[in-house]
Amino acid sequence: MSDRLHIFDTTLRDGEQSPGCSMNIEEKMRVAHALGALGVDIIEAGFPIASPGDFEAVHRIATEVHGPKIAGLARAAVKDIERAAMAVQPAGDNARIHTFIATSPIHMEAKLRMTPDQVLERAVDSVKLARSLVPEVEFSAEDAGRTEIDFLCRIVEAVIKAGARVINIPDTVGYMTPDEFGYRIRTLVERVPNADQAIFSVHCHNDLGLAVANSLAAVENGARQVECTMNGLGERAGNASLEEIVMIMKTRSDRYDLEMGIDTTKIVPTSKLVSSITGMPVQANKAIVGANAFAHESGIHQDGMLKHKKTYEIMTPESVGWNTNRMVLGKHSGRAALKARYVELGIELDDARLIAVFDRFKILADKKKEMFDEDLMSLLTDDAELDGEHVKLISLHVASGTSDTPVAAIELDIDGEIHKATAEGDGPVDAAFKAIKSLVEPNGKLLLYSVNAITAGTDAQGEVTVRLQYGERIVNGQGSDTDIVVASANALIAALNKLPNMHAKEVHAQYSGV
Ligand code: KIV
Ligand code: ZN
Repeated sequence: MSDRLHIFDTTLRDGEQSPGCSMNIEEKMRVAHALGALGVDIIEAGFPIASPGDFEAVHRIATEVHGPKIAGLARAAVKDIERAAMAVQPAGDNARIHTFIATSPIHMEAKLRMTPDQVLERAVDSVKLARSLVPEVEFSAEDAGRTEIDFLCRIVEAVIKAGARVINIPDTVGYMTPDEFGYRIRTLVERVPNADQAIFSVHCHNDLGLAVANSLAAVENGARQVECTMNGLGERAGNASLEEIVMIMKTRSDRYDLEMGIDTTKIVPTSKLVSSITGMPVQANKAIVGANAFAHESGIHQDGMLKHKKTYEIMTPESVGWNTNRMVLGKHSGRAALKARYVELGIELDDARLIAVFDRFKILADKKKEMFDEDLMSLLTDDAELDGEHVKLISLHVASGTSDTPVAAIELDIDGEIHKATAEGDGPVDAAFKAIKSLVEPNGKLLLYSVNAITAGTDAQGEVTVRLQYGERIVNGQGSDTDIVVASANALIAALNKLPNMHAKEVHAQYSGV
């Protein structure tokens, strides 16, 4: 049995299936590069048959992200598998197809309307086809937690014989408890005659809050790949959270003596990136990556910490990427120093991008006394958003107060022409949004508006996420600024820029003249 625990990240596939968490291709590329720098072993980049956008994202990740294996998901069906093979092909030796079919009685009868023998035959044919197209095949028995153990052993043996080298046992509905799930993995490892030819993997959902505990029980019983997501994103209540699995392995290496390739100091920056791109905030008391995860409030704890940090600290905040090199740069820093700091954060900027980011760095450094890593990450967010934009913010003035109706005056560059509008609103953000929406179409329905402080202090940048729906399409936009109304306007504009055929509205008199 290998003594390495393979970390399989599915933030871009199962994570993206979280309600409202869909990402566009540029956002997926940023997450994929961050996961590569974090050191995950496998990135599940998407479900290529699902849409042309999914296919393109998997293909680009397979082309541009080097280091991890790149997996594409495919149902056990010829078209799915062929499409996944085309998408992951640029990864060469690192290409993997992850094919799955449901094996529990309820799924086979009610969903697939297939007998167990038909399911087994389809699984074997699919693995053989996938194996003829890519170097490595993973097979998942969907709803394995509720699958009859004899049938599970039979299908696992058959797909290993057909060429699958990773066998994933998902607890698709988050129904298992740790002892029964661990026992299930041990049974497979012991009873399947060719089990030694494959790595056993687990994929646990968090419906009963047991995804991490069940994954650990599986590792204790022989699993050597864990499927997980940043911040525990995923269908419904989510998947096992990557940061928790990794830090349990590291902090309790006395119990789990397994190698991993993760650079744990990149956990918090990656978590923040995923949170800001998806607009899914991280709860303050979330283990490892929550804002309070290392905050000691009570006097007794603070006293203990001052005497000896190990009284209340089982891992350091620095070890997961909090507070490392907090105050990195200031307004006198040069371009080379900025570039070097990005390299330390695992981000390579080409010359053109560095020039654009440096210009924004100078503007922000003039407004803020201290520039933190989180501020540098926000400058990159803006950079990617600016690609291919139709609408740019030229100026924004807002007046509001305890007895005045808030009013906003906006100036936008829309496809090279200047357009102006003013609007009143229930608050300054509402007024700014109404003014912007009076100038462009389509402008979509607001599904989500969220504000987070990027760092501490009253001069901190506010980071705003806006989610819009237009027909079938849901888009996210982020903006950050020390002024949250400006951050909000930038976030709305970033989202509007992603809507199809964005253009200036011809008549916008309804909001003007206020
Ligand atoms: O939860 C699940 O069963 C899945 C499979 C596709 C692995 O996501
Ligand atoms: Zn899943």
